[in-house]
This record gives sequence, C-alpha cells and structure tokens, in this order.
Amino acid sequence: MKSVIRTFLGAAVLTQLAGGAGLAEELNLYTTREPKLVEPLLESFTKETGITVNTIFLKDGLPERLEQEAAASPADVLMTVDIGNLVDLVDRGLTQPVNSEALNAAIPENLRDKDGNWFALSLRARALYAAKDLDLASFHYEDLAKPEWKGKVCIRSGQHPYNVALTAAYITHHGADETKAWLEGVKANLARTAGGGDRDVARDIMGGICEIGIANTYYVGLMRSGAGGPEQEEWAKAIKLILPSFENGGTQVNVSGAAVAKNAPNKDQAVKLLEYLVSDAAQKIYAEANYEYPVKPGIPVSPLVGEFGELQVDATDLTAIARERKTASELAETVGFDN
Ligand SMILES: [Fe+2]
Repeated sequence: MKSVIRTFLGAAVLTQLAGGAGLAEELNLYTTREPKLVEPLLESFTKETGITVNTIFLKDGLPERLEQEAAASPADVLMTVDIGNLVDLVDRGLTQPVNSEALNAAIPENLRDKDGNWFALSLRARALYAAKDLDLASFHYEDLAKPEWKGKVCIRSGQHPYNVALTAAYITHHGADETKAWLEGVKANLARTAGGGDRDVARDIMGGICEIGIANTYYVGLMRSGAGGPEQEEWAKAIKLILPSFENGGTQVNVSGAAVAKNAPNKDQAVKLLEYLVSDAAQKIYAEANYEYPVKPGIPVSPLVGEFGELQVDATDLTAIARERKTASELAETVGFDN
C-alpha cells in the first residue's frame, strides 16, 4: 500500500500524526484523491481557518489501513470517490455520524447519508459520448439496448465501479429482470469487447469503431484541456457529449465524498473541513479543478461543463443505488457482459 504524506503550513510529522489526540487546530486527512485536486482546497481551508491539514494520500487500501490502525487511527477525515467506496466505509464501521446544519443545507438529501455517515462533495455524470456529426440531441440509458445501435456501442467493463453504479441505478428504476434484459441488449450492441477506460470511448469513436458510448463527464474536460496529451485532444474533438436520462428520471451521477472517521481525534476540526468543502468558495474550486459538478445547488459549473447543458440529477437515493451494486455486478457476470 503506497502513501505519501504532505503537510500544509505546518511541520507535522508521523509521530505527531500517531499522537494526534488533543492537538488543537490540526486535523488528519486520508484520501484517495489526486494531490493536485485536493491541495488547492486544503490550502484555502487553512488560510481561512488556521487549521493545519496533514494529508495522507493513498492509492488504494483506505478501509484496510483504517482497520489496521483501529482505535489508534489518527485519521479524522476520509475522502474518496464512488458511492460504493463511501458506503463500504460505513458498512465496515469506520465512520461516525455527523449532524451539521451547514452540510444538510448545502447537500441535497439524496446525495448524503441520512445518518450523516458520508456526504457527497462533488458530482460526475455517466454521460453519452457520440460521434460529433451524429444526428442525436438527447438520449435515454434505456436506448443503449435498442437494436438500432447494433454494432455501434463502446463501453468499459461491466464490472468497473462506474458501470456497476449505472447498472445499480438501472435496477432501482426497472428492477433486476428488466436490467438483465437491458444488459443483454447492450452487450449485443457492442462494437468491441467491453473494456479499456472511459477515454477510449472517444478514441474508438474517432477511429470509426463505434458511434456512441458511455463515459464520465469530466474526461471530456481532461481530454480537451490537453491535460492528457495532444492525442487525447484529438479524441475529444471527435465527439459530443449528451447528458442522458432514465426514461422516468434524470441523469445518473456518481460522487466524490467524505466522512468523519470513527475514531477521529480532532472531530470538531474534521466537521469544519467538511463544512468548508461545501462553502461557495470551495465548491467553485471543485467546479474548476477537475471538471466536476459542484454538489451545492446554484454554484456555477466551469464553462466547458456548461456546454453539456443543464444537469438534471436523477433523484434516486444514492444509498439505494449502493445497495444494488452486488446484484448489478452479478447480472453483468451472468450475461457475460465482458466476454
Ligand atoms: Fe475516473
């Protein structure tokens, strides 16, 4: 398990992390997010509050590390992506409930745990990438299985957490049986074996392998900005992004989010960080830094994301979606989605 320790405006070292209990105006953050994404938020938080944040960046293994550290864990705030990872932390008993008016007011009810064990901080939508010149202005997730798209669809593995969450959301709308039929239909429409990454959908549309595919919104920003190199800029030029919706709902979103750790030695500071992260200032940073959607209604999105049109977030409770993840994964297995 790899980790990097970074400190903001402070000289905290590991020994301090280990004995963090009672240290005033300091907190310890464990996160799987990219340093370049988190650092501007933390610097701004420290400037505003004077609270130093000691950050441990983990590639993976966040719950395992917390379980190992157990009651002695110095972790105060846990920050990660994907509803599955957040719910997993709760299920393993690694979080504690937080009741904060500021958090409850800023975050829509379906995007936070009802007991305050986790809170979404930013959103990413599961979108449709379509060939630039394709005569298509709107799309339903249900359409992916329609025969008219036979041999024209590209998508990553049905077992990837992004697709598991989409399939789980489909189950909440249509039930498991219809979802199985849908997965079979999508599988029958694939232009190539399910696999690769989201950006490969754009690459393969450019290459004429497929005409449409499913991928996250922020990758368009990352490709277009040149952050992924000149090749990816070309991929992005080949596609347009459509925000699909369920026939009886909105667009499926996943989240980045945070929780207060079960044994947080600095709980008050931890809650202050969470509250800061849903402030207007922090939500604007989220919107700009990674082409994500702010979780707080009314905060403007980045101009590039604005071009996608208005996001109508599906109203389904994320906890309900998380509950269907296992069934979703099993259905993908049953229909041989990745074969
Ligand atoms: Fe991603």
